[in-house]
Amino acid sequence: MNSLDAGTTPAGTTPATMRAVRQERLGGPEVLELVEVPRPSPGISEILVRVHAASVNPTDWKHRATGRFLGQPPFVLGWDLSGVVEEVGLGVTLFSPGDEVFGMLPYPEGAGAHAEYAVGPARAFAHKPASVDHVQAGALPLAALTAWQSLVDTAGLRAGDRVLVHAAAGGVGHLAVQIAKARGAYVIGTASAPKHAFVRELGADEVIDYRETDFAEAVRDADVVLDTIGGDYQLRSLRTLRHGGVLVSTVPVAAEGLHGEAERLGVRAALILVEDDHAGMRAIADLVEAGQLRARIAGTFPLADAARAHEAGETDRTAGKLVLLAAPE
Ligand SMILES: NC(=O)c1ccc[n+]([C@@H]2O[C@H](COP(=O)([O-])OP(=O)(O)OC[C@H]3O[C@@H](n4cnc5c(N)ncnc54)[C@H](OP(=O)(O)O)[C@@H]3O)[C@@H](O)[C@H]2O)c1
Repeated sequence: MNSLDAGTTPAGTTPATMRAVRQERLGGPEVLELVEVPRPSPGISEILVRVHAASVNPTDWKHRATGRFLGQPPFVLGWDLSGVVEEVGLGVTLFSPGDEVFGMLPYPEGAGAHAEYAVGPARAFAHKPASVDHVQAGALPLAALTAWQSLVDTAGLRAGDRVLVHAAAGGVGHLAVQIAKARGAYVIGTASAPKHAFVRELGADEVIDYRETDFAEAVRDADVVLDTIGGDYQLRSLRTLRHGGVLVSTVPVAAEGLHGEAERLGVRAALILVEDDHAGMRAIADLVEAGQLRARIAGTFPLADAARAHEAGETDRTAGKLVLLAAPE
């Protein structure tokens, strides 16, 4: 027995293998296969979680098609999940087997949530709010952390700030609207007309139909813009900011001339990649417990239908979140 084994709780009846959505090659949704693979074990400071629900994010289908930050397959995708702690590794004090947790695995190298079990740093997780089920909790981590880290950590959003949230009906956007409202901001969202009622229900003060109205003309004196579209949206969004305002874009590629234009206008442009974040997960759990944050579940799919979930997401028209079910609720 090595020192790691000595500090790990006994595996008990945990099976040696598990089902996971794996791909052997890059390509369309058809490359995703449900296969039997070895179950991971928790290393130092890690926990093994029996996954109940895991969300599907745009980064999943981008990685599936291009390898993006992971390179060549084989790999199992999925970065966020809700489930039950099965085993804890050496040194873990936050959780015990049997605890319900939700969290985001380290991005990008920690992928593997689209499986029956996943392993990750204990501090990537928080206790799942008791008031919601695993589907709801599993829908939140990556998208809610992106919104939290953009609005709160990066932009320093304060009560009374004017915030423009692009794609306010999307996975990140619909959570960003709620987080900004919970922080006391005035929120303007962009969405196509059929989604305006949904965005208003989330608490947005104004909704702009981006297909009919040029947001760059309609919005002035914003303190913060959250951009999830990228390209010319980054440059055009700069014009909506007050002097000293902040653009945070979740598309981590700067449009040509972005930083020069930001400097000229006296604003800041920040490109973010979401990080696993214990403090952020606790803040999200608090908002959920306070009834201030809920994911809209756009669809649920068994693990075996992961390809269908990717297809639904790739339409780029999702309102809310798509969730894979890895274990019965
Ligand atoms: N950097 C990071 O760490 C990070 C983290 C999370 C996400 N992201 C990225 O952020 C982007 C959004 O992610 P997501 O999960 O929110 O995606 P999503 O849920 O798939 O977004 C779909 C939504 O986008 C809206 N939309 C599409 N084009 C639009 C436009 N031009 N203006 C306004 N709304 C538009 C659609 O509404 P309509 O049907 O009304 O158009 C739909 O509701 C993706 O590119 C993703 O990869 C990056």
